[in-house]
Amino acid sequence: MQEKISLLNERYQGMNTADILADASSEFGTKLAFATSLGLEDQVITHMIASLKLPIRIFTLDTGRLFPETYDLIDRTSAKYGISIEICFPDYRQVEKMVSEKGINLFYESIDNRKLCCGIRKSEPLARALNGCSAWITGLRKQQSVTRHNMQTAEWDELHGLIKINPLIVWSEAEVKEYVAKHKIPYNTLHDKGFPSIGCQPCTRAVAPGEDIRAGRWWWEQPDQKECGLHKAR
Ligand code: ADX
Ligand code: SF4
Repeated sequence: MQEKISLLNERYQGMNTADILADASSEFGTKLAFATSLGLEDQVITHMIASLKLPIRIFTLDTGRLFPETYDLIDRTSAKYGISIEICFPDYRQVEKMVSEKGINLFYESIDNRKLCCGIRKSEPLARALNGCSAWITGLRKQQSVTRHNMQTAEWDELHGLIKINPLIVWSEAEVKEYVAKHKIPYNTLHDKGFPSIGCQPCTRAVAPGEDIRAGRWWWEQPDQKECGLHKAR
């Protein structure tokens, strides 16, 4: 498989993001899916998929703890592009057991609790959403975090046993913002209120100007621990 990943990376090196998406769509067909958190990067990818009319399934993981502004953006994006964004929910039995045993806001109490919540509300639904896929697309960028510096455009996703394609991996934050503005892409109104990176409402807060873009995510944890299990830290 590593050989296939190397070949993909070689091929993608000469391509722009739209070409990578089109290429992946023709290579993996219906066995390709895009996971969107509705963040700025993901909105760029959604815009490209919709503009190129690529038949790529788009899904989001609704943890049940998202911001109202994120739900609003799901609606605005679907309406603008005439696409349907598949909403994946966690298993209610696991959520009920977790919150009844450990409390509704368990994640503030320990890293183990936080990982348990992310596991039940995000990782398990992601694994279900990817079931049957050969490859998935994400909006990851190297510059987002110390845990992402070594990531490549195409990678073997050991956790899910399939290929992961990160077509924006080398983009800078400025390039993402510029593209969104240029193409009038709908975005989360929280970005204008000091939230560069948006996840679940109780685990995301605004950052001060000049602060790290992910400083507001799980702000009570150390930077090298801030991965929720969707993208395993190396
Ligand atoms: S996280 O691991 O810290 O939550 P981040 O918000 O940076 O991830 O998003 C990185 C990529 O993971 C996104 O571009 C998207 O592909 C995927 N992702 C994150 N959260 C979700 C979600 N709720 N639903 C679907 N995909 C998601
Ligand atoms: Fe739970 Fe917070 Fe993880 Fe969301 S980000 S799944 S609320 S711990």
